[in-house]
Amino acid sequence: MTTTHKTAPTTLPRLLGGLEHADGLATLDRHVGFHGALTVAAQPGRPNDMLRESVRASGLGGRGGANFPVARKVDAVLGERRRPVVLINATEGEPPSRKDHVLLRGAPHLVIDGGVVCAAMVGAHEVIIAVEAGSQREFAALDQALAERERRHVDGRLKIILEIVPDGFVIGEERALINALNGGPGKPTYAPPRPFQKGVGGAPTLVQNAETAAQLALIARHGADWFRSLGTDAEPGSALVTLTGAVAHPGVYEIPLGALLDDLVAAAGGLSAPARAYLIGGYFGTWIDAARTSGLRLSNADLAPLGGGLGARAIVALPESACGLTETARVARYLSEQSAGQCGPCVHGLAAIAGGMELLARGDGRQLPDIERWIGLVTGRGACRHPDGSAKLVGSALTVFADEVRRHTVDRKCTGNGTPVLPIPKRAATGRTA
Ligand SMILES: Cc1cc2nc3c(=O)[nH]c(=O)nc-3n(C[C@H](O)[C@H](O)[C@H](O)COP(=O)(O)O)c2cc1C
Ligand code: SF4
Repeated sequence: MTTTHKTAPTTLPRLLGGLEHADGLATLDRHVGFHGALTVAAQPGRPNDMLRESVRASGLGGRGGANFPVARKVDAVLGERRRPVVLINATEGEPPSRKDHVLLRGAPHLVIDGGVVCAAMVGAHEVIIAVEAGSQREFAALDQALAERERRHVDGRLKIILEIVPDGFVIGEERALINALNGGPGKPTYAPPRPFQKGVGGAPTLVQNAETAAQLALIARHGADWFRSLGTDAEPGSALVTLTGAVAHPGVYEIPLGALLDDLVAAAGGLSAPARAYLIGGYFGTWIDAARTSGLRLSNADLAPLGGGLGARAIVALPESACGLTETARVARYLSEQSAGQCGPCVHGLAAIAGGMELLARGDGRQLPDIERWIGLVTGRGACRHPDGSAKLVGSALTVFADEVRRHTVDRKCTGNGTPVLPIPKRAATGRTA
């Protein structure tokens, strides 16, 4: 491989750089030609402390939804005795999110480099990259990239394995993913043990999202200061956002964290219809009234006073022609059917909430007090955050669409035009996948 030393990009795009052409950076030469070579190598059994300190200084938070500091996870894995492994979570089961898919197809080497960086930080001998069965193009891009690296002896003794797991929303939860990789059902288990204690094959496992890995690949090249030159002090760097709904050009965009929502919408060609509200953070996110979004910045700190967060950074602009209650009822049903079906709050609570929302969307508000009570009952319970996330979404709908609630229950009127906005995967129609 030819070694090129590239100048670090001082502006955006960073992760999406080089992807404007149809083939993106799928080949190693194009990848190295654009980003430069990764000079860090994984040494099994020998953690790279300098690299870990650089990642700590970068302040990178996980991009899979929870924004958990990467360096703290690395420390936890290093605190265990057994030989660790790295797991790159490339499942992206969140229906309105496409950021990881775009990266995996266009820049598979960047994600793989990120796996190498993770392995170098913890001294792992093995990296597993897990994709969903339905992500055939992403699988093909990674498979081809790995074959090319093997032919050209890029990763030395480090073993990098590509694994396929069943499709579904909950499979992306780290313990569900680990269970599936260990040959069990793809369902979360109660913690502890946590993945850093006992994960794939019983080994301490560093789990990072595919975009987190790609960010690490750039931090290893350009350093912490470069990374922090975008974003806010508390939430540094750039991030990928999937913007869909009532915008002229829906798609995946790269923003500095803390960017204005208005600027993101402008980058997507502006609104294609007046927006009633925005769903921010995907299906575990919250609705935010469009009237409150002028000047709103996209960071967890800015969204917190509105009860929201960036989550998986999927944003949907809901047009005024759609009914927020109907949309939420559809998603509540989907989330209830996607539950792993093993904990009370999911089995009984989410199904009841979905049923109540469906009645409400049809103009029957008799279960409204029950929905509010059920939201309280499921929150904080269950083996994973699925009930919390689902309940938060429904709770925010009842607040933001309070006028719709009145219109439905008092005037018995739904002003929605019936065209669905929020995506529900077709395969979900077959029932549970987790
Ligand atoms: C129900 C559920 C679904 C999840 N789905 C995904 C997913 O599709 N992709 C992902 O990276 N993380 C997903 N997560 C978060 C993972 O459990 C885990 O926190 C993440 O992969 C860690 O990577 P990060 O720290 O780099 O974000 C999900 C969590 C829950 C509770
Ligand atoms: S809380 Fe729900 S999704 Fe999570 S493990 Fe339990 S049943 Fe499955």
